[in-house]
Amino acid sequence: MKMIKSQKIMLVATVLLTTFFGFKSYAGNEGSSTSENLKAAFIGESTASAKYAAYAKKAQDEGHQKIALLFKAASKAESIHAGNHKAVMQNMGVEVPKVDPKYDVKNTDENLQDAINGESYEVATMYPDFLKVASKEGATMAMISFNYAYQVEKIHKALYQKALAALQNNDENTLADYYMVCTTCGNTYENEAPARCGISMTPKERFVRITK
Ligand SMILES: [Fe+2]
Ligand SMILES: [Fe+2]
Repeated sequence: MKMIKSQKIMLVATVLLTTFFGFKSYAGNEGSSTSENLKAAFIGESTASAKYAAYAKKAQDEGHQKIALLFKAASKAESIHAGNHKAVMQNMGVEVPKVDPKYDVKNTDENLQDAINGESYEVATMYPDFLKVASKEGATMAMISFNYAYQVEKIHKALYQKALAALQNNDENTLADYYMVCTTCGNTYENEAPARCGISMTPKERFVRITK
């Protein structure tokens, strides 16, 4: 059957529109799963940052200076994760949610356990799931931002486990004297950082030093 000229034009237009809009939603705009995941991750990271700052103050008040330092460094790292997720949302035209952080401050040992639980959830479930969806949707920037957080939360989990063990064994003096936090990905090093970040390759000069 031969198509008349107007039918041909309609067909071409339909294919073009499908391709264009199909690609737009594929790249993850408002309403796609990655948009929702970015919002959830942004709220989670913003809350973690505020919570760890409060845990740092509590540790300081209880005389656990070195554990306070770790909470402070992690708080800074989580704010970098939140900022990265926010930048991706803005780039995608997704509305950035307002955050009203809610958390309980307990004793430092309980706060450390809470931090370990939070990091464990992000490492075992949340970020792997978010990364899978972002990969399926071809949302490249979201994948970078999720992966930075995913890699750093593994490090935070280990640092918090080490701090809790030190607290229980009464040898907190073995913990780091200061931390170096990468301003690109939040990577958190005990004492000195290498010449380039092991996650984002950012030069050491762009790290922040958390001393007190
Ligand atoms: Fe984080
Ligand atoms: Fe973390």
